[in-house]
Amino acid sequence: MDIKISPSMLASDFANLEAELKKCEIAGADMIHLDVMDGRFVPNITIGAPVIKAMRAVCSLPFDVHLMISEPLRYIEDFADAGADIITFHAESDSDISETIDKIISCGCKAGLSVKPKTDISAVYPYIGRLSMVLIMTVEPGFGGQSFMADMLPKAEKLRGDFPNIDIQVDGGVDPETVKLCAKAGANVFVAGSAVFKSPDPAKAIARLKENAGKI
Ligand code: DX5
Ligand code: ZN
Repeated sequence: MDIKISPSMLASDFANLEAELKKCEIAGADMIHLDVMDGRFVPNITIGAPVIKAMRAVCSLPFDVHLMISEPLRYIEDFADAGADIITFHAESDSDISETIDKIISCGCKAGLSVKPKTDISAVYPYIGRLSMVLIMTVEPGFGGQSFMADMLPKAEKLRGDFPNIDIQVDGGVDPETVKLCAKAGANVFVAGSAVFKSPDPAKAIARLKENAGKI
């Protein structure tokens, strides 16, 4: 499986988004992770489709949009129009999972489905054939900079054992050490907010994440 690093813009400088996106391009990021929170599904509120559209105009990397919102189905078209490439939503949201996946695909995007820490990975199994990615949260969604939950790793192990070819993404507390555990468990797409943007050298940080993920 290809190893991909997806810096989370949540940890970037929101006053300088264009410069932060360029930083990711130059630093060798494979895609850009955009965390959308609605203050209902999670306690926090972040950015929406208009901001993503503005970012799309100044960045050529694939946009990996992580919807932490209660009613993803209502907003899929908006995020597709804003330039999302992959749209990931939560199995715990209020929208019908199957309908939401169909909507994402009919809008021309790839679909991802995510599980929060307390949700069993079996929640994604009925939909796997239509998903290009499964996102296993390795923190409770809502905030950047939290500690990695190693007890989520068996979910990745199980999923990788059952589906050798699907992209398995991990998100939350991924750093040069925890990335090794995730890769060993079968993950191949790594979201990293603090590990990239709080580093004095983001290019080095991305290179190190990639290198460590490859050493399994
Ligand atoms: C958390 C978000 C993450 C977050 C990761 O709810 O989904 O994408 O930005 O941040 P770090 O890598 O700092 O844990
Ligand atoms: Zn995220």
